[in-house]
Amino acid sequence: MLIKNARISTIDNEYEIKDIYIKDGKIAEITSDIDTLDIIKGTFLSSDEIIKKLEIIDLKGEKYLIPGIIDAHVHMRDPGLTHKEDLYTGSRACAKGGITTFIDMPNTVPTTTNPRALQEKKDLASVKSLVNYGFHFGGTSTDNSDIIPGEGIASTKVFMNISTGKMLVEKDEVLKNIFLKSKMVSVHAEGEMVEKAITYNEKYGKKLYLCHISNKKELDIIRKSRLKAEKKIYTEVTPHHLFLNENDIKGKNEMLLRMKPELKTTHDVEALWEAVNDGTIDTIGTDHAPHLLSEKLEKVTFGIPGVENSLPLMLDAVSKGKITLSKLIQLMSKNPSKIFGIKDRGEIKEGYYGDLVVVDLNKKFILENKTTLSKCGWTPFDGYTGYGKIETTIVNGKIVYNKNQIIENTGSEIEYE
Ligand code: DOR
Ligand code: ZN
Ligand code: ZN
Repeated sequence: MLIKNARISTIDNEYEIKDIYIKDGKIAEITSDIDTLDIIKGTFLSSDEIIKKLEIIDLKGEKYLIPGIIDAHVHMRDPGLTHKEDLYTGSRACAKGGITTFIDMPNTVPTTTNPRALQEKKDLASVKSLVNYGFHFGGTSTDNSDIIPGEGIASTKVFMNISTGKMLVEKDEVLKNIFLKSKMVSVHAEGEMVEKAITYNEKYGKKLYLCHISNKKELDIIRKSRLKAEKKIYTEVTPHHLFLNENDIKGKNEMLLRMKPELKTTHDVEALWEAVNDGTIDTIGTDHAPHLLSEKLEKVTFGIPGVENSLPLMLDAVSKGKITLSKLIQLMSKNPSKIFGIKDRGEIKEGYYGDLVVVDLNKKFILENKTTLSKCGWTPFDGYTGYGKIETTIVNGKIVYNKNQIIENTGSEIEYE
């Protein structure tokens, strides 16, 4: 595949125009002008054959090419809860949302808390997922620290507060063992549990990933802790905590906009945006947590879908001047890749996989229930319009989404450095 005249984000909102040649799924060359003749020289095919075979996309110096989004926090519900979502429908939703790699959470049925359950998920994803994937292993209250895999997982996920699925870990001894045996721990921790997670990481752990930080108080704890902590602390925020607040939970949204952590005050939302721009926040993860509308309306059910919304919302933030495009790329691609040690993804770089998204910052998008691909069939942002349309999503050098259409594909499991 040859992508011509792509705007590539440099610093702030600056860009360079480049040509990118992708061969065997990986970026082979990035220069200011790639001639098809040069490609012909590198092969034994005739020029006619090359032109016929080579997919050429010309972005005419108008559209941006950004690295594929890496969403380190999704709940794909497969196996066991596949009436809400499965690895096929969830990965299609990712392709539409510009997410070329997702990392799935362990609160499925069965929970991903032993090597057999982990292998079952890997086998399912290898045939069902259109985009690339990885998995978090789950820590249990009965202490499974002895069977935490040393490789092939992104982290050990620990629920330190009650949420969907019965995975709460409370006992100090068990927490200690999980931190001791994990290369990295990701936590669902709210309020004082944030402080506790940081303390355990510092005493027994290696690296800590704080999922969905949602208020100013937690941000202040993180800032203070980082000044003296010797172990790494990473911070994630969700798009819904950036774009919605507690005042949105009214009328028809009363039952829909419930999730853990809950939506916060406008004051907290402002603090989150500040933290995005001052470096306190490292990543944007969706916490894609699909439930059917009927389930949401019947009784309080925590979680909302996210993978189709996150990049459009963040691109709209770029168009409104709330963040720069280079910051978006850092939070949504580069940092998740670095933090979880994902091999050769997260940047547009020679030797890296051809995981790419074409976006048109001047084009309007609309988020709607009726175009939702997630099996849950709804979006908390129904009717939201903004600027920054996803045109094309490319996974390992193959187009999987183009102008509102999905093209079937099989993604790969990510590798770790
Ligand atoms: O709202 C949430 N939903 N928060 C979580 O921590 C889990 C998630 C889910 O799996 O439904
Ligand atoms: Zn959580
Ligand atoms: Zn979650």
